[in-house]
Amino acid sequence: MKSILSVAVVAGSWLLLIAPVQAAGGNVAAGQAKAAVCAGCHGADGNGGADPLWPKLAGQDADYITKQLADFKEGRRKDPIMAGMVANLSKTDMKNLGAFYASLKVKSGAARDAPLAKLGEKIYRGGNAKMGVSACISCHGPTGHGIPPRFPKVSGQHAAYTKKQLLAFKAGTRANDGDIMTRIAFRMAEQEIKAVSEYMAGLH
Ligand code: HEC
Ligand code: HEC
Repeated sequence: MKSILSVAVVAGSWLLLIAPVQAAGGNVAAGQAKAAVCAGCHGADGNGGADPLWPKLAGQDADYITKQLADFKEGRRKDPIMAGMVANLSKTDMKNLGAFYASLKVKSGAARDAPLAKLGEKIYRGGNAKMGVSACISCHGPTGHGIPPRFPKVSGQHAAYTKKQLLAFKAGTRANDGDIMTRIAFRMAEQEIKAVSEYMAGLH
């Protein structure tokens, strides 16, 4: 009896091994095939391209990526380039793309301006109590890896892209965040935004 049971368990684990690669409901290989057109800006390895305003996607949470693609498609997040890129993507394509980019490894970045990054670290870890700015660490984690699926990974990202997003949240021109980031960024000074973006670029 016992041996029949263990045979069944072994057979079960083989079934798991031969199942196609899936992450959060998406198919990595199908996502990779769809990502050919994305590589020019986001890199074949998901680590971005020539322009620091083109974000790194490697290692980002699959569900967060899928949500952003749907938000671009339905106009909840506005960007003239990305609007065109998602126009013909189905829900399944978006899930597959999410799974593909989540499966890649992000190359860590580095802060270039040490004193600015130091101020950024203070805000990231402790917020700004006087201005009512919450500490970023509470949702994005001590190493910036986020808390999936709602709180995205923010570490190692290009500082210029991060700064652009925080300024957009502050101005309310990016408002697909359930009012969380818009409220936080609204209370931040531009210098604090610059500093925290610099710090997060080198966080890993
Ligand atoms: C011509 C350049 C270009 C191409 C090609 C492109 N993107 Fe983008 N992508 C951008 C830019 C620029 C942004 C940042 C938009 C902003 O500032 O809000 C972006 C943002 C994103 C984001 C949001 C990232 C985040 O951290 O919130 C995702 C996801 C994304 N792109 C996926 C894709 C996918 C998938 C494709 C291919 C189907 C693609 N992109 C093709 C330029 C491009
Ligand atoms: C209460 C939770 C919470 C706190 C605290 C928080 N965030 Fe966020 N953050 C979010 C959520 C949720 C999103 C995703 C919004 C969406 O779905 O588009 C986000 C998105 C972001 C993004 C966009 C990432 C991308 O790839 O485009 C950046 C940058 C960011 N946060 C930086 C910060 C910084 C800097 C702080 C501290 C000053 C901070 N966050 C504090 C919840 C939080």
